[in-house]
Amino acid sequence: MRSGPASPVSVTVVTNQAGRYSFPVDRLTPGHYALRIRAIGYELDGPAAADVAAKGTVTADLALRKVDDIASQMTSTEWLISMPGAEQKRPLIECMSCHTLERVVRSKFTADAFVGVLKRMANYANNSTVQKVQARVAEREVPDDRARRVGEYLATVN
Ligand code: HEC
Repeated sequence: MRSGPASPVSVTVVTNQAGRYSFPVDRLTPGHYALRIRAIGYELDGPAAADVAAKGTVTADLALRKVDDIASQMTSTEWLISMPGAEQKRPLIECMSCHTLERVVRSKFTADAFVGVLKRMANYANNSTVQKVQARVAEREVPDDRARRVGEYLATVN
């Protein structure tokens, strides 16, 4: 639950087995709150909000619908777990600091093309974001065989 778009404050609660939820009274001041949910495989069936008054209880029944594409909700860790292999995917742990693995698995690169992408990644500084790329001060060389190994693996999972 998040109070008004202007407020950065958000309070998170977990539903019980019956799907009921409630917010602790001492955490909410009167006002307009937007409601969000996180349930793997589901999303809110439209925007949801609640107006909390100084007194009394407000009830908001939230209708959920199944998401069309669960991939859009997966975290990098979930992507990593869902990929085949063990040792082969180990290097991908390094790929989650600047962007999520969704970018990697949704790409259409061939093994050859991945070699170039991997070499480019290696020369981005750690604090890069997709919006603001920052080059490393010292160039970092990725051995061809390593880039190829990872690239060949990635071309089988994207
Ligand atoms: C230091 C930050 C950083 C790390 C670590 C990183 N990336 Fe990236 N990645 C970026 C940025 C920034 C972009 C967007 C700019 C670009 O495409 O060059 C990007 C884009 C991509 C793309 C899309 C490229 C395209 O042309 O569409 C792929 C695929 C990708 N990264 C794969 C990886 C893989 C695989 C790893 C791990 C081996 C990795 N990245 C690690 C910063 C990083």
